[in-house]
Amino acid sequence: MTVRTLEQVAKEALADPDRFWGRQAENLVWHRKWDRVLDWNPPFARWFAGGLLNASINCLDRHMGSDTKNKAAMIWESESGESRTLTYFQLYRYVNKFANALKDLGVKKGDRVTIYMPMVPELPVAMLACARLGATHSVVFSGFSSQALVDRINDAKSKVIVTADGGFRKGRLVDLKKVVDESLSSTPSVEHVVVLKRAGNAVKSGPKDVWWHEAIERASAYCEPEMVESTHPLFILYTSGTTGKPKGVMHGTGGYLTHLYATAKWVFDFKKTDVFFCTADIGWVTGHSYMVYAPLMHGLTEIMYDGAPDHPAPDRHWAVAEKHGATILYTTPTALRMYMKYGDAIPNSFDLSSLRLLGTVGEPINPEVWMWYFKTIGKERCPIVDTWWQTETGGIMLSACTGIDFVPMKPGSATFPVPGVDAAVVDEEGKTVAPGTKGYLVVKRPWPGMLLSLWGDDEKYKKTYWSRFEGMYYPGDYALADSDGYLWLLGRADDVLKVAGHRLGTMELESAFVSHRAIAEAAVAGRPDATKGEAIIAFLVPKEGVEKSDALRKEVVEHIRKTVGPIASPDEVYFVGKLPKTRSGKIMRRLLKSIASGDRIGDITTLEDGAAIDEVKQAYDELKKTLR
Ligand code: WTA
Repeated sequence: MTVRTLEQVAKEALADPDRFWGRQAENLVWHRKWDRVLDWNPPFARWFAGGLLNASINCLDRHMGSDTKNKAAMIWESESGESRTLTYFQLYRYVNKFANALKDLGVKKGDRVTIYMPMVPELPVAMLACARLGATHSVVFSGFSSQALVDRINDAKSKVIVTADGGFRKGRLVDLKKVVDESLSSTPSVEHVVVLKRAGNAVKSGPKDVWWHEAIERASAYCEPEMVESTHPLFILYTSGTTGKPKGVMHGTGGYLTHLYATAKWVFDFKKTDVFFCTADIGWVTGHSYMVYAPLMHGLTEIMYDGAPDHPAPDRHWAVAEKHGATILYTTPTALRMYMKYGDAIPNSFDLSSLRLLGTVGEPINPEVWMWYFKTIGKERCPIVDTWWQTETGGIMLSACTGIDFVPMKPGSATFPVPGVDAAVVDEEGKTVAPGTKGYLVVKRPWPGMLLSLWGDDEKYKKTYWSRFEGMYYPGDYALADSDGYLWLLGRADDVLKVAGHRLGTMELESAFVSHRAIAEAAVAGRPDATKGEAIIAFLVPKEGVEKSDALRKEVVEHIRKTVGPIASPDEVYFVGKLPKTRSGKIMRRLLKSIASGDRIGDITTLEDGAAIDEVKQAYDELKKTLR
């Protein structure tokens, strides 16, 4: 067999994308083969139109006739050191039973199910059970609180919620069931709530509640999978954008799974002997794609860790990797920065020699953190794949591809687009910029993992992603290509924050602040943070007659934790008399960001909205005067 270089593979892929992606799709199990690889009715793509398949067959049934059947699919480890292992057969049986349990509750193809659970194997079981029935899952990150949950349930109009009596975080109980109970009075679509016993928490039972273990006990061991169209929505995952309301990113089945199968092979070079440790939470897209669907399709053994990286000690990832012999570690720059702060002695006290490949995702990685990862964790033997992608892209878009070819690494660069992905860096007019020039990252043609649309809002889908540059997908990131063609990600070009890798929208946070009774107006900005990447800084205008006190500050922070979730806690809260706005009434977030970052606001000429410099300066001076 001749070995082809990445460049050759990428060239072939772009010369005939239909042929290329069609070949990748042959790696899935299809009930009926597709008629056409791609129906492209811009900006709506129908990948593998005419094909029929089921995602749970691709993750489970496909292994039942091979020696993968009795191999560990999931090794679960908790914060307190408990472990559980499920083989592919056990997982298959569990998913079948839970699918039957959901069926008994009336769940069928096309229904939506909200999953609000801790990181336990039952979370992927619930997702795969939905997929088996052709129901669309909507997983809500368990770090979100009541209002965030209510909004997501109501937007999806979910029929069933799957939750647990609690989870644990840093040794403390997270009372998920209580949050669900609070949501029920304002989520009329919900008919049943399935509750897993996980935390031994004495929860209140309501009329809609069904115990997970009782539902499973009654269910039979095999559930006939529902064959769905390739474009059938496998899941909705809510994510933050530049508007107040989170967007329901909707992913299909055939295209999404094809993208994952291919990228997992190319980027991670998945081998049957691998033990894959992805530290993401399943509540975010990395967990959906590279903890649930990709590794299971490939028949890999994966590690699922439930807990904080630094509790009870700042060594959890190293301890878990050593204990279970992880070969690939896929984590975030935030986690690495946190570990780096504690020094080398901690990781050096573990045997990490099983590792062969390291990956990062979610934020730009600083070159010094990259070097630390390479030297201290990988002992200069393990390549690093820096993978750039988004909830919307479904799978990895830019990354080194160790399963195809080794290209020299550059610390801090995501290197190149994966084969079949046509990316570029463009200026305001959409023209490709010269090497070394900062511009906007774009994708110039459809790819199989791309979102189908936004749930219930095709117009917003068009406007958000396909209207900024004619005929191109706009992800909202700044980037540059260097003289060797390597891509460097330079952060968000819009009002989206990445706080400890979690994606949050400034407008979404502002609406949460003003939902507090004492707050009239709010503006949120991100400030660079040495560990978390970005920290949340809030500028709040209290209502007339409200005293700007520390007590109010505490109350407002508590309000955010309760409504959006602890991940949205601001680092600093300033009370101001007025917010700086443009003539057209838009909050000057960029100015606030400079103020919060302590930057000199020299480049205010680059401010958006054509704001006059004098106006900006005046607003800034006023703001400084009123800061307390
Ligand atoms: C950022 C996470 C730099 C980027 C999978 C993107 C990155 C957003 C990288 C999507 C990376 C993700 N280097 N930035 N390797 N990976 N990002 O939807 O701003 O939670 O647009 O998906 O994270 O975040 P999301």
